[in-house]
Amino acid sequence: MRKKIVAGNWKLNKNKAESIELTSEIKEKIKGVLSTDSHEVILCPPFVHISNVVDLVKGSEGLKVGSQDCSLFEQGAYTGEVSAEILKSYNVSYAIIGHSERRNYFKEDGNVLSQKVTQAVKSQITPIFCCGELLNERESGSHFDIVQSQLEEGLFHLSETEIKNCVIAYEPVWAIGTGKTATPDEAQEMHKFIRGLVELKYGQEVANEFSVLYGGSCKPGNAKSLFNCLDIDGGLIGGASLNADDFVEIIKALGS
Ligand code: 13P
Repeated sequence: MRKKIVAGNWKLNKNKAESIELTSEIKEKIKGVLSTDSHEVILCPPFVHISNVVDLVKGSEGLKVGSQDCSLFEQGAYTGEVSAEILKSYNVSYAIIGHSERRNYFKEDGNVLSQKVTQAVKSQITPIFCCGELLNERESGSHFDIVQSQLEEGLFHLSETEIKNCVIAYEPVWAIGTGKTATPDEAQEMHKFIRGLVELKYGQEVANEFSVLYGGSCKPGNAKSLFNCLDIDGGLIGGASLNADDFVEIIKALGS
């Protein structure tokens, strides 16, 4: 089912006490805000906070927990890794995979990401697969090609049944943490393109039911104009997800 989603990517922020405080505040403030089962709010804290956050959101309808990554390995001698299977045992529902910060700082390429996606799907965790171009790639006009190859390399190996349980997040790298947002027109143009790629590969029915989120300096002040676009089904939020009031304002922008 095509869902309207707001996901908060906390990145490397919040200690134990702060993560509990933020989760409790969000839980309190979204009471009555999420209208139907077609709306979902996802909190993606650092790995070590996941257990606490899962316990805190228990019983809150429409509030789910995601990880910011998962291992490409299933199990074994891989020091420091956390597998999708372990995450599933903590009731993690989503995993962000292929964030530009992972691609950039940790050199994750399409081959690695496709394996992470496979692991997540195997453990029945929904990948939130990120794609997006650098500023120079947009300026040179290659942004559509870049996004297309990111999707083809990292996500489109999945079968039709598997892809139905995935979400794509378009995050232009030049808009992440910069205060510079894609205009609704720029974002809509890319989201339409992405949905078109899903349609080409998996057919119209899958494409129509697919959620594509926008990420990159999405704030209470611009969320509505972005979410009102035809092919934008919500947002993947960084900075503004660290403040309960801002985050809940963004959730409200999903509308009914
Ligand atoms: P900002 O909202 O801080 O720009 O971050 C976006 C992002 O990277 C979400 O994954």
